[in-house]
Amino acid sequence: MSISVGDAISSFKIPILMGVMVIFGFGIGYLINYTFFSDRSPVQPINFSHKIHVTDNNIQCMHCHAYVDKTPSAGVPSVKKCMGCHKAIATDKPEIIKLTEYWDKQEPIPWIKVHDVPDFVYFTHKRHIKAGIECQTCHGPIETMARVTRVSSLKMPWCVDCHTEKQVENGRDCVTCHK
Ligand code: HEC
Ligand code: HEC
Ligand code: HEC
Ligand code: HEC
Ligand code: HEC
Repeated sequence: MSISVGDAISSFKIPILMGVMVIFGFGIGYLINYTFFSDRSPVQPINFSHKIHVTDNNIQCMHCHAYVDKTPSAGVPSVKKCMGCHKAIATDKPEIIKLTEYWDKQEPIPWIKVHDVPDFVYFTHKRHIKAGIECQTCHGPIETMARVTRVSSLKMPWCVDCHTEKQVENGRDCVTCHK
């Protein structure tokens, strides 16, 4: 019995090739995951589309995010708010049937947060909206999104760079954002 050099190499080659493929596969998987399924764009419990509501049906941001210029957090509308329209609109659609089930059980919809700064950071919408900054400056073209995607890093330099650019008084002081 004799094994040729060629056989020996190819019997090594296969595991190596498989190894490379596995690593490559993880890489692609990671990229796809990062691009489509990361926390930047989570799949929500109800397939809610800003495009349908804002662009196609001309419903204003403030109609649903009513407290954005009054309180620190913008807030997401209640099921009651949805039902104000959806008791009558598209009632036969599967996603609206799901919505109605939350309503019947008097349960809130467990929306997954897309934008979240850590608790040790002080941020309020109110002042930013009053200063005339558009929602889109920070959130991107929400009105075109079938699913919300976070477009800003929300990291410290993102905040500080804009404060510098807009020459916000005390905008770079640590205590402005860290109480
Ligand atoms: C018909 C109601 C409705 C309207 C109108 C609406 N939104 Fe929303 N918005 C929601 C709901 C419900 C969610 C939570 C589900 C989701 O993330 O898709 C949400 C989520 C968001 C989020 C992400 C929240 C998070 O978790 O970080 C942003 C940002 C946002 N909306 C901005 C806007 C802006 C800007 C407009 C106007 C261009 C707008 N919305 C109009 C209902 C609405
Ligand atoms: C001011 C009225 C209004 C409010 C408030 C509203 N919607 Fe809608 N919604 C609409 C209209 C109009 C459509 C488009 C219906 C159509 O084209 O058949 C729609 C469509 C939808 C659809 C797509 C249905 C389909 O499959 O065709 C979903 C899902 C939906 N809304 C969920 C929600 C949720 C969840 C809320 C609350 C956060 C909400 N809507 C609040 C008016 C509203
Ligand atoms: C200066 C940047 C900026 C502007 C302008 C802005 N947002 Fe936000 N938004 C943020 C940040 C940062 C968060 C995360 C806040 C947190 O985690 O406490 C956020 C969170 C949200 C959320 C998630 C729910 C919440 O309250 O945390 C919604 C909804 C939202 N914004 C809607 C809007 C709407 C609607 C407008 C325009 C009327 C708007 N935002 C304008 C930066 C901005
Ligand atoms: C696109 C520009 C922009 C971005 C991004 C931005 N800011 Fe601001 N911020 C402003 C402007 C302009 C003011 C001044 C508002 C005024 O004159 O009342 C301000 C004021 C503030 C204030 C002082 C007002 C108050 O309520 O006490 C705080 C705190 C603040 N920003 C925190 C943040 C944090 C935290 C972030 C990032 C998560 C951030 N900002 C991102 C433009 C921005
Ligand atoms: C305009 C708002 C703003 C100002 C001014 C600011 N920070 Fe921050 N800082 C943030 C935000 C937003 C985060 C959260 C970033 C993240 O999630 O990584 C943060 C995070 C941090 C962290 C945690 C870092 C980490 O990786 O977890 C430290 C430490 C910090 N800041 C220190 C400072 C110091 C020191 C100053 C003054 C020289 C300062 N910050 C000024 C907004 C600000």
